Amino acid sequence: MASAQEALMNTNHRTRVLKVDVSKIGAFVFQDQQLGFLGDWDIQLSEASVDAANLQEAATRLRDGDLPVAFPTETVYGLGADATRSSAVRGIYNAKRRPSDNPLITHISSLPQLRRMLSPLDKSPAGLAASQDPIPSIYHPLIAKFWPGPLTILLPLPTPSPLAAEVTASQPTVAVRMPSSRLALALIKLAKLPLAAPSANASSKPSPTTAGHVLQDLSGRIDLILDGGPCEVGVESTVVDGLSDPPVVLRPGGISVDILREIPGWKDVRIAYKDSNQKEKPRVPGMKYRHYSPNAKVVLIHSDTDAETIRNQIKTARSVGLLTTERWSPQVFGVRHEGHHESGLPDKESGQIHADLGKRKPEEIIKAKDIENTSENPTLAAYHSTLDFHGKGDHPVDVWTIALGQDVDGIARGLFSALRALDQKNVEVILVEGIDDGEEGARAAIVNRLRKAAELEINP
Ligand code: TXA
Ligand code: MG
Repeated sequence: MASAQEALMNTNHRTRVLKVDVSKIGAFVFQDQQLGFLGDWDIQLSEASVDAANLQEAATRLRDGDLPVAFPTETVYGLGADATRSSAVRGIYNAKRRPSDNPLITHISSLPQLRRMLSPLDKSPAGLAASQDPIPSIYHPLIAKFWPGPLTILLPLPTPSPLAAEVTASQPTVAVRMPSSRLALALIKLAKLPLAAPSANASSKPSPTTAGHVLQDLSGRIDLILDGGPCEVGVESTVVDGLSDPPVVLRPGGISVDILREIPGWKDVRIAYKDSNQKEKPRVPGMKYRHYSPNAKVVLIHSDTDAETIRNQIKTARSVGLLTTERWSPQVFGVRHEGHHESGLPDKESGQIHADLGKRKPEEIIKAKDIENTSENPTLAAYHSTLDFHGKGDHPVDVWTIALGQDVDGIARGLFSALRALDQKNVEVILVEGIDDGEEGARAAIVNRLRKAAELEINP
């Protein structure tokens, strides 16, 4: 098997995509039904199951190899490696081209496993009194309510630490999460390891929510991607630090601040992430670390912005991506938009991700055409039309529109997929309709990711 160093030099791996239907791998057996995944549990793999064999192959590679394995979680796809081995963790940084000062989240599959990881010298952490519990008490009600799920907590790093130094990038804390994806839980359990796993995108690209997205970014750089279908949540976990007083949210995510505030000990939780809201936010290339960025220039536009200001953003562009959310219709440019029928409110028939384009059928269901054998987001559709600025056809602009609809969970689920899909159309600019910020649901997470992706933000 290639070492991480060889992996860096050799980017000609044949990347295989293995499908895993987690309902076919076998039986999950819980020691305590009430505790479920929080307690001790195990899997009895079905011997004849291809899905079980695929999962087992990934687990074996994680134990024995230095190349990371991509796998789905409920939030986004992760790029996993044995968190206890430096050579394996370095493989993640190499494959993603991730700066080594950005620490990784460690994924666990049960609380007994986490307690063993946090008390490496204690042989029987299960019998600990509450005062000796290596998991600080501020986290107990959070864990009871949100784990397994899209919440990451900062814990004190034990000394000696069983984790590779590269996981925590010299921080005194380790970020830990127990995913709710059964496929992810089963993989961690079979590997018998805590798995370090950042999102499985190339550094600076939007996080992947399908196996196809991972392949777009990491084909040739890793050996194996487990394909468990599109992710349910679509944005990354909420990261909280309960070791500081008052506790803080370091990254908004699937679990919102208003829900956190209801938890004992978390009423005064503060927000500690930066979300600039300037009228115009020019980005000097290289000045700022790019994040969630497709190749096209992303312009984030407040939904109340007038048509002329919006048109001014695409004065010279010949091809434009349009990503609508809560209020925009295709008439947002205020001029004739050949190819679109008049439409009112978004058509709710087609599910979470749908188009605001009346009865018209999408011209193309966006699929990553060059990518075979992966599950694509089944309901993401892009509509093509031509925008005629002056009504004389002298400056026709190709417009690709994806409407994410009004449902906030649906927007979160489709956001990264839509940015990638529009990028595949090679548009020069992607205009994104912003959503109102707020503490409820995934709003803060969506606004945060869009602000990071955007080179420019326009408010009326
Ligand atoms: O949903 C998720 O969290 C996904 C899936 C794969 O689990 N993972 C993910 O990982 O988003 P990543 O590496 O893309 O983001 C990890 C975030 C970063 O913002 C990092 O700075 C922060 O967690 N982080 C990790 N360890 C930390 C630490 N010790 N102190 C402060 N922040 C930390
Ligand atoms: Mg990431």
